[in-house]
Amino acid sequence: MSLEIHGLSMSIGSRAIIRDVDASVADGERVGLVGASGSGKSMLARTVLGLAPVDAHVRGSALLDGRQTVGASDEELADVRGRFAGMIFQNPAASLNPLTAVVDQVMLPLRIHYDLSRSERRDRAMAMLDTVGISNRLARSFPSELSGGQQQRVAIATALVTSPRLIVADEPTTALDSITQRQILDLLVSLVDDSGASLLFITHDFSVLMRTVTRCYVLDEGRIVDESAIGEMGGPASAEQTRRLVDAARRLRLPSGRGGASAPARKGGRDE
Ligand SMILES: Nc1ncnc2c1ncn2[C@@H]1O[C@H](COP(=O)(O)OP(=O)(O)O)[C@@H](O)[C@H]1O
Ligand SMILES: [Mg+2]
Repeated sequence: MSLEIHGLSMSIGSRAIIRDVDASVADGERVGLVGASGSGKSMLARTVLGLAPVDAHVRGSALLDGRQTVGASDEELADVRGRFAGMIFQNPAASLNPLTAVVDQVMLPLRIHYDLSRSERRDRAMAMLDTVGISNRLARSFPSELSGGQQQRVAIATALVTSPRLIVADEPTTALDSITQRQILDLLVSLVDDSGASLLFITHDFSVLMRTVTRCYVLDEGRIVDESAIGEMGGPASAEQTRRLVDAARRLRLPSGRGGASAPARKGGRDE
């Protein structure tokens, strides 16, 4: 099991933000976490990875590839993150260092987690960048010289370069236009599947979710209120929250469904 969460709660002061969550992501599975803005999606992901705010009080259990992250030391967590879990965030510009060339950013997790020579790290980073559609020329440039879509490709390369077992993606395409969004989602799904990793994919956009995962949890006010295989979600909804999300998804639906006639992800597309 890549991720196993039992009775996980998180509060800040007297405010409960995550409430008694049970959830899991099996090896090789792509699972969604959907919910309205402010429902606690990001906080749940952060708590699982040991990145809750410093004043947060966390109870329960979160096993990442069998390793407990609740109550783990910063040292243990640093080892677990990057090696076992890769993270991709909503705003790629904010997650990249503006003063560091692209290839050097992708090399950094390798320096932390693997005993490789500089040239081995560089070769591996270049190969990973090529896989996500970033050319050798772009690899030597700085984040500000890239488009939003290209920056998110770099963030994906950085998250995947250490071959983590679990990728956590927190609304990774929200900041992108719809064509780039689709290219990035398709790229992420194919890379995750090719590497045999698992995916925990956070979104408030149901159509994005349908394209990306096969099962999903619905979060409302820090609680899991529903769980379903994708496909069933469009059927009679058990919880009010699911119904609202499905309704919203119908309005937002992409022109072609997952696995439909959409173009495959282009490498380094000029349209980004
Ligand atoms: N650093 C923080 N300190 C205190 N409360 C926070 C912090 N970040 C988020 N919250 C609160 O936690 C709740 C869940 O937020 P978040 O997980 O960011 O929601 P989502 O990602 O689903 O939009 C919100 O009510 C938010 O105000
Ligand atoms: Mg969020």
